[in-house]
Amino acid sequence: MKYLKDIEKEMRLDGVRVLVRLDLNVPVKDGIVVDDYRIRKTIPTINFLKERGAKIILLSHIETKEEKSTLEPVAFHFKRLGVDCSFIKNYKSALEEIEKMGRGDVVLLENLRNHKGEIENSSAFAMELASLGDIYVNEAFAVSHREHASVSAITEFLDSYTGLLFDMEIKNLSSAFHPDHPFLFILGGAKFETKLPLIEKFINIADKVFVAGALANDFFKAMGKDVGKSVVSGKDFQLSRFIGNPKLLLPVDTVVSDGIIYDIGEKSMKILSEEVEKAKYILWNGPLGTYEQGFREPTHDLARMIARATSQGTKSILGGGDTLATIADVKLEDQFTFVSTGGGAMLEFLAKGTLPGIEALERGE
Ligand code: 3PG
Repeated sequence: MKYLKDIEKEMRLDGVRVLVRLDLNVPVKDGIVVDDYRIRKTIPTINFLKERGAKIILLSHIETKEEKSTLEPVAFHFKRLGVDCSFIKNYKSALEEIEKMGRGDVVLLENLRNHKGEIENSSAFAMELASLGDIYVNEAFAVSHREHASVSAITEFLDSYTGLLFDMEIKNLSSAFHPDHPFLFILGGAKFETKLPLIEKFINIADKVFVAGALANDFFKAMGKDVGKSVVSGKDFQLSRFIGNPKLLLPVDTVVSDGIIYDIGEKSMKILSEEVEKAKYILWNGPLGTYEQGFREPTHDLARMIARATSQGTKSILGGGDTLATIADVKLEDQFTFVSTGGGAMLEFLAKGTLPGIEALERGE
């Protein structure tokens, strides 16, 4: 792969049109960005390109709950963060607008997913995008598990580089494949099918795998426990193969109301806190309880415990949309070794050690 950080060994960026794929898929409410973590994380790359006189053309998708998923609020938010960013609504006029750009100028194009060629990984659409730039940078680790035109097919048409944050994502997440020990892996939330490959893999690498959230309900069911109306995947993942494995830790008590398990209990928190204290390496994805229904306290406490352990030298790698929301709630975003911008991409990278976006960059060499 070729790295943006090393590009000056190869070429000067002065006046070069750089097409930068970002993941600006952030929550927006009433036209206002409500969580800008992903946006803020792109700024070092934008500044790197600006300082070198590049013309910076930003591409992204966005999926919001608003009537229309548009990146216009993100362009506005960039301005609030000190990046003067123009917004191009219509791809038809994009080339004309880009021709007017000066050195260091930044433009953001409207939502890629308005074009069906994007999700179809169409070569024709990728070629259309490629005509807007001279080189391509993938700074969208968080969407690199999608084989989409702006992530995958585009590397056929332009010299392609990984962005600065992309490199950090790979470096930090890969550390989980050769961690310090004791290694504690904490996996919460739901979506059993996407997380099972991680349990299968990390039960071998980690010293302890603590499973909580709705994922634990499937284990309880496999153990013959009554889970009432609690969320379960409804599929048979043959979990009995893990039961009795001394590395697997499940909650020993839970917060239950009306037959629904909402969170882990105090005894389980005590066990988890002892494991956090012992660990030299912690990987965490997913809340411990039904976070969206307001069961947040144990998850917040866990974030505080891991932040404390990090300050004492434990390496901590976190990620996932709800995990990010948790640490933002308790204002601890900067207190961990690394916080991934990826949700699905983080899980897939941890499970497989690669992603379609990485493979596309390798092909583009
Ligand atoms: C994410 O939020 O995980 C990424 O932006 C990917 O979004 P998607 O699941 O809509 O492809």
